[in-house]
Amino acid sequence: MPAKDQDGAMGHGTVGRGGAAKAEEYRRKQMEYLFPCVGTYYEKPIVADHASGMRVWDVEGNQYLDFFAGILTVSVGHCNPEVTEPATEQMRRLQHLSTLYINMPQVDLAVKLAEITPGRLKKCFFTNSGTEANETAILLAKLYTGQQEVIALRHSYSGRSMLAMSLSAHAGYRRGGTHILGIKHAHSGYCYRCPFKATYPSCDLICARDFEELIQTETSGRVAAFIAEPIQGMGGFVVPPKEYFQEAVRIVRKYGGVFISDEVQTGFGRTGKWFGIENWGVEPEIMTFAKGLANGSPVGATIAWPEVADAFGGSTISTFGGNPVTATAALATLKVMEKEDIPGNCARIGAFLMDGLRALQQKYPFIGEVRGLGLMIGMELVGERKAPAADIAKKVLEATRRNRLLVGKGGLFGNVLRLTPPMTVGKAEAEEALRLLDKSFEEVAREEGLTYGAAAAAKGAAALKTAAGGMTTAN
Ligand SMILES: Cc1ncc(COP(=O)(O)O)c(C=O)c1O
Repeated sequence: MPAKDQDGAMGHGTVGRGGAAKAEEYRRKQMEYLFPCVGTYYEKPIVADHASGMRVWDVEGNQYLDFFAGILTVSVGHCNPEVTEPATEQMRRLQHLSTLYINMPQVDLAVKLAEITPGRLKKCFFTNSGTEANETAILLAKLYTGQQEVIALRHSYSGRSMLAMSLSAHAGYRRGGTHILGIKHAHSGYCYRCPFKATYPSCDLICARDFEELIQTETSGRVAAFIAEPIQGMGGFVVPPKEYFQEAVRIVRKYGGVFISDEVQTGFGRTGKWFGIENWGVEPEIMTFAKGLANGSPVGATIAWPEVADAFGGSTISTFGGNPVTATAALATLKVMEKEDIPGNCARIGAFLMDGLRALQQKYPFIGEVRGLGLMIGMELVGERKAPAADIAKKVLEATRRNRLLVGKGGLFGNVLRLTPPMTVGKAEAEEALRLLDKSFEEVAREEGLTYGAAAAAKGAAALKTAAGGMTTAN
C-alpha cells in the first residue's frame, strides 16, 4: 500500500524521508540515460511522484499548485476518477485488437467528436500524438486538393516529425535543418511585435493580407493547405486580431487550399469556446487534436469534412491509434467537460485571472503584455524598448517553483510565462495562483534591483535594467 504524505494524498513510498536522495538519483540517471534534448524546467528539475486534482507532489514531499497542466494536457484534473476508472475498467475488458476489427470506443469517440466540432467536420482518423494528427492532416489536404505546397505561420509549433519540424517556425525546434520542402511561412498576427511595425486596427490587417503576395511570389500559385493554431501555443500565446483568420483563410481558399485548424492546445474549452477557431468565425475543412482530449493518455485525432476525408484511400495503419483504452479515457474526459461546462468555467476563471494579472502588470513594468483567451494566458516579460527578457522569465520560473506554483514558459525568445491550469480550476485556486505569482515577481524584482510597485508605475519600463535575452530553445 503506498504511503500517505502529510497532506493525506497517496504517494508511492518515496515521499518525505529519503526523497531528496531519490530526487538526486533520478536527476543523475536522467542525464545519463536520456537524450539531452529531453529538456526539463528549473536548475534542479522536479522529480514528480504523484498528483491529484490541481495538485502535484514531488518525491521530496513538496506540494505544488499546477497552473501548467502537463503542458495543457490534464484537462479535468490530475487522476480524475471519472476518467481513470472507466479507462482502467476498459483495460481489464479489452486493451488492444488493432483497427482490423471494429472497436466500439473508437467509433463512439468519432461520433462524439463529429457532434461537438463546428460546421461539417465529421470523419476521424486516430493516432497517438499531435505530431501524427498534423502529419495526417497535411497528407489528407494534399490528397484532396492534388496540390503540394503548404502555408504555415512564423512562431508556430506543429510537432517533432520531419514534416512537423519543417512546419514549425522556431529555429531551436528544427534540428537537422528543414527536412521537407514546399512549406512557406506567413506572418502570424503578433501585434505586440508586429513585423510590419503597424498598429491594429489602422494596420488594415497587413499581416493577413500579405498571404496573397506570399502565395503569388513563393509558391506555384496553387496551395494544398494553410495550417495554423488559433492561438499560437509554443509561440507564447500569440492572439491574432479577430479578423485575421477570416482574411487569411479567404486568400488561401482563393488559391485552392483548405484550412487546417490545429486545436492541440486550444481545443476542448480552453479558450472559453469548445474550439479555439470558433473565436474567429472560420469553419475549417480539417481540425487536429491531441494533448487535452484524453486527460493525459496519449491521443491524436484528425477530423475532416466527409468529402475531404474520403480522399484518403489506399491503406494506412496506426497500431495504437484510437485504441479502446485511450478512446474510453477521451470519451470520459469529454463527459466530464460537458457536465462541468468547461468552456464556461474557462471563460469565467480566465476573465478573473486576466484582471488579476493586469493589476500585477501595473505593479511590475517588466510585464510587457498580458494576453490570451479563457485559461490560455501569457505574460510577455520585457526590458527596455520591449527587449525580450528571457533571463527575468527564467528567474521568475525558479521563484514560482520555490513558491510551489507550476507555470509554463514559451515564446521564440523564452520570455513568455504561460498560465494554463487544469480547466476544472476554481476561483480560490486562481486567487492562490495570483498571490504566489505576485510573491514570485516581487522576489525577482528585489533580487535584480528592478523597481516595482507604485514607484515603478510612475517611472515606467524605462526604469528597468536592460534585460534583453537571446533566442532560446528552452521553452
Ligand atoms: C499546437 C501543437 N500542435 C502539435 C503539437 C505536437 O503534439 P505532440 O507533442 O503530441 O506530438 C504540439 C505540442 O506541443 C502543439 O502544441
